Amino acid sequence: MSDQPAATLGILGGGQLAQMLALAALPLGVQVRVLEPDAAAPARLCAEHLHAPYTDPAGLDALAACDAVTLEFENVPVESLDALRGRVPVRPGAELLARSKHRAREKTALREAGAHTAPFVVIEQEADLDRALERVGGRGILKTSELGYDGKGQVRVASDAELREGWAELGQVACILEGFVTFEREVSLAVARTADGRLAFGPLVENVHRGGILRTSVYPAAVPDGTETRAREMARAVAEGWGLEGLLTLEFFQLAGGDLLVNEVAPRVHNSGHLTQDGGGVSQFEAQVRAVLGLPLADWSPLLPCAMVNYVGVEGAAPDGAPLDGAPIDCAPIDWAAIDALPGTHIHLYHKAHRPGRKLGHVNLVAPDLPTLHQRLAQLEQLIP
Ligand SMILES: Nc1ncnc2c1ncn2[C@@H]1O[C@H](COP(=O)(O)OP(=O)(O)O)[C@@H](O)[C@H]1O
Ligand SMILES: [Mg+2]
Repeated sequence: MSDQPAATLGILGGGQLAQMLALAALPLGVQVRVLEPDAAAPARLCAEHLHAPYTDPAGLDALAACDAVTLEFENVPVESLDALRGRVPVRPGAELLARSKHRAREKTALREAGAHTAPFVVIEQEADLDRALERVGGRGILKTSELGYDGKGQVRVASDAELREGWAELGQVACILEGFVTFEREVSLAVARTADGRLAFGPLVENVHRGGILRTSVYPAAVPDGTETRAREMARAVAEGWGLEGLLTLEFFQLAGGDLLVNEVAPRVHNSGHLTQDGGGVSQFEAQVRAVLGLPLADWSPLLPCAMVNYVGVEGAAPDGAPLDGAPIDCAPIDWAAIDALPGTHIHLYHKAHRPGRKLGHVNLVAPDLPTLHQRLAQLEQLIP
């Protein structure tokens, strides 16, 4: 093997997902270049950092010189995508991104591809509120169509009055009203597809949220027989129907009896897939790199039971006691040594300044069997506030 890079991969965005994509790309002989305006972006530590706005012409020129470009967030400015068009493959591409970043378009396109979703009504003007709640079953979640994440931009509503108040609260912007789903559990699964149409799937993972933010993911998911097959069928339908190039993650609600509804999709690696870093198989990050660059690609999955616990900034405290921006913060330290000492843990820190509600890192846990995993997961959860 030569020591020349096999390829150069450009990434729009330089956060922790880009950081972990770069860490997975390097051993494949792939060098990474990120376009990211934040000087303190996590990916700067392991990739060439084009420190400029996403629409910067010189920055985009440098991305256009890569073999392919991918992304770590869905809200890439249309201008940037236009500037790259015809110069370098952007995977996933502009058409898919236009769907996945807009909840109303996304749900409509999911249905068109044959995936099942909760009932929904698109809310764009006052008149759309009439009878909307009734149409989705009398109880729902109103979500802004754009820019929502980690439970932000959402209001639960159970009456017409609440719906009207909720829409005012969200600034009367374009929204989607979804019927409230009573689910048994939340699961997710990623699918990757190369430009020449080769498909591969990630594992079915079970997710628990806290305060609108992912708290834990567990593999394997404790689902009824046939659930994973159903999840793969829907993932395939979306990947092929939407002409996916790259990797896409689907979030599902699993209903009693095993039926699945797609909640939302992310056109990229996903927080719920972080456990693939340490489960012994190929990681979701390597899968995205391979799919985007057209390298050999097979289904990826952990070889052992594993779990992930997110480390999220808490109010009024810097649990690691060592903020990277240097400002001393009042802290209730996390006992990292105890986490480290728990068998099977792998600590992943993103090198971000502490802020309440911000994702700062995660801890993966691997165990030889499921009972041991659950026993150690309970211990690990005690150690991470
Ligand atoms: N229609 C729904 N019915 C019940 N719970 C929901 C519904 N939509 C969202 N949720 C809950 O809220 C969480 C966050 O919503 P989601 O649409 O995934 O937005 P985000 O972009 O913040 O992840 C979901 O993981 C789920 O727990
Ligand atoms: Mg979500």
